[in-house]
Amino acid sequence: MEIIDRITNIFQKKFGSAPAHVARAPGRVNLLGEHVDYNDGFVLPAAIDRATYVAFSAADAEQTQLVAADFDEQAFFSPQTIPLKTLMDGSPLPEWALYPAGVMWALNGNHLETCGLNAVYASNIPRGSGLSSSASVELAFIIAWQTLGGWTLPSMQRALLGQKAENQYVGVNCGIMDQFASACGVENRLLLLDCRSLEWKTIPLPENISIVIADTKVRRKLTSGEYNKRRAACEEAVRLLKQDLPEIKSLRDVSIEEFNRCAGKLPELVSKRARHVVEEIERSKQAEALLEAGNIRRFGELMDQCHVSLRDLYEVSCPELDIMTRIAQSLDGCYGARLTGAGFGGCTVNLVAHEEAERFSQLLAKGYQAETGYPPEIYITRASNGAELLK
Ligand code: GLA
Repeated sequence: MEIIDRITNIFQKKFGSAPAHVARAPGRVNLLGEHVDYNDGFVLPAAIDRATYVAFSAADAEQTQLVAADFDEQAFFSPQTIPLKTLMDGSPLPEWALYPAGVMWALNGNHLETCGLNAVYASNIPRGSGLSSSASVELAFIIAWQTLGGWTLPSMQRALLGQKAENQYVGVNCGIMDQFASACGVENRLLLLDCRSLEWKTIPLPENISIVIADTKVRRKLTSGEYNKRRAACEEAVRLLKQDLPEIKSLRDVSIEEFNRCAGKLPELVSKRARHVVEEIERSKQAEALLEAGNIRRFGELMDQCHVSLRDLYEVSCPELDIMTRIAQSLDGCYGARLTGAGFGGCTVNLVAHEEAERFSQLLAKGYQAETGYPPEIYITRASNGAELLK
């Protein structure tokens, strides 16, 4: 595979020998349950066939020397410099290095040893596209340190440590969905996760259906305050709703009827945000039965509704995502289309009849370019396995 050859060659040149190992951790696409993971809801992602790859060997010293092939940059750090977020020379860690360094920090915090690594990594998940490129970097490095560390963690524990790195080291207050999907993905299966109990199961991909990812090429940064603001609005809603519903712990505990009864007491913006979450959790609860019954038409309608809700209530869409979704929904063979991931740019996910998928992709690309003036990237994806050691 091209990307593995590329990092292997760079490794060989940089460190003078072939890497002992190669690990891979995928990105993800989410079909239903958006912005509900941090509200204890249900999500339905799949790991995709795009991933971060890391070629690595144990270093002689305890320092870790990393090459980010995609940036053509290097970072040199150790367990001592990690808490300071600096390189060995005292300069601040470059942004890309916060993810592997954060993983080292989270593992050490859990008393898991991280030996010095020589490593080269690269990814074919477009960054900032809503396909969890950062979670995939975190999980790839957890696999690397696990391989050399003499300890093994269950995949959900790996996901939780990746999330800890992202929340507490990188500083993005994300939920568990992305790291979960990257850690626990199963080939050809969708993953249904209860974000409260962390119980999960797999659901087969509907037969004759393709998952098409359409990248608007618009990039917004998730570290920005908007994501954290949405979380804060949800927490504020819970605090206020508790006056009438003292038992609730999160928006997961509020039914649509209860919400309709009490929503008048919430400030308008908080009410809109919370309504999205309450209704989206209700939609995602229907997913399993619909998919099992093969009712893709109804499932696709829920995806369409999800987009409207993300656009009008949660306000995390953007004109390009709306254009991409609208065109998709008008094309033959499309069951459902919506933005996927945090929003503010990035990709849409589309469920399309298998035999129409190629034509759908071409027409969607054409239509999007005609309206926006720039070409999207559209591809049919395959649900893949979670983070793993390849060699
Ligand atoms: C980002 C976060 C996830 C989740 C989604 C929205 O991808 O990392 O935890 O909140 O946004 O569903």
